Amino acid sequence: MTDYIRQYPLAGEDSPFDLKKSGGFTDIHCHCLPGLDDGPSTLAESLELCRMLAAEGMATVVATPHQLGRFEGSNEAATVRQAVADLTASLAEHDIPLEILPGAEVRVDERICELLEADRILTLADDGRYILLELPHEVFIDVEPLLAELSSMGLESIIAHAERIATRIARPSVLAGWLEHSTHLQVTASSLSGDWGPELRRGAFGLLAAGWATLVASDSHDTGLRRPRMRAAFECISAELGQEAAHLVCIENPSRVMRRRDLLPASVCGQKEAD
Ligand SMILES: [Fe+2]
Repeated sequence: MTDYIRQYPLAGEDSPFDLKKSGGFTDIHCHCLPGLDDGPSTLAESLELCRMLAAEGMATVVATPHQLGRFEGSNEAATVRQAVADLTASLAEHDIPLEILPGAEVRVDERICELLEADRILTLADDGRYILLELPHEVFIDVEPLLAELSSMGLESIIAHAERIATRIARPSVLAGWLEHSTHLQVTASSLSGDWGPELRRGAFGLLAAGWATLVASDSHDTGLRRPRMRAAFECISAELGQEAAHLVCIENPSRVMRRRDLLPASVCGQKEAD
């Protein structure tokens, strides 16, 4: 274990925070559907991941298989909706208490607006308000024109794992410019917990502390290396920025995405409450 990963106790009986009372986590970015992308290959693996998500304290998960990019031509909206219905039936059969909603992680592409209108790609919770966008990791693309176009259609964009972009560009403040186009930044729980090293951890915390990132999600793919780490992230944010900030970005705002409501600003994230 490297020394940059500080260890925090998980929320449990001794913790002042009661996750159950808060209604549990909502995960707005998760690869839990079997056989569609680089998430679980089989239904058994998918159920194993869902069991872990439920044990982690997730109440609702938006399934976000990749669309477009290397998954061009597969995972169209109707396929994803059917996969969610099938997994929901299997969860009930296996007594796994988890609600799954349809969604997608959509690779940025100039055709996104027309594909949305043709009902071929999905918004989060399939309700037409928030869309989760994936940018390439290798090169930086300024997606401001796309964000403006989506905003003019009444959609709000959420940039997936924004810490990966922020740590690769010379001026991370360019991301703040995107926020003017009804855009929100999501950081990944396992980056905050330090699983991917100090640079991504610093990047993710930097975006939260600046108030630019307002959402945390698991982006989990399996029960191994890419497992859900929401509880660990919640504890890390509580320790660094205060429990109010952790509640806002891990619980309140993700549940607002699911309920089609406005997100709250993360102004509290820079100020840790008094101990
Ligand atoms: Fe993802």
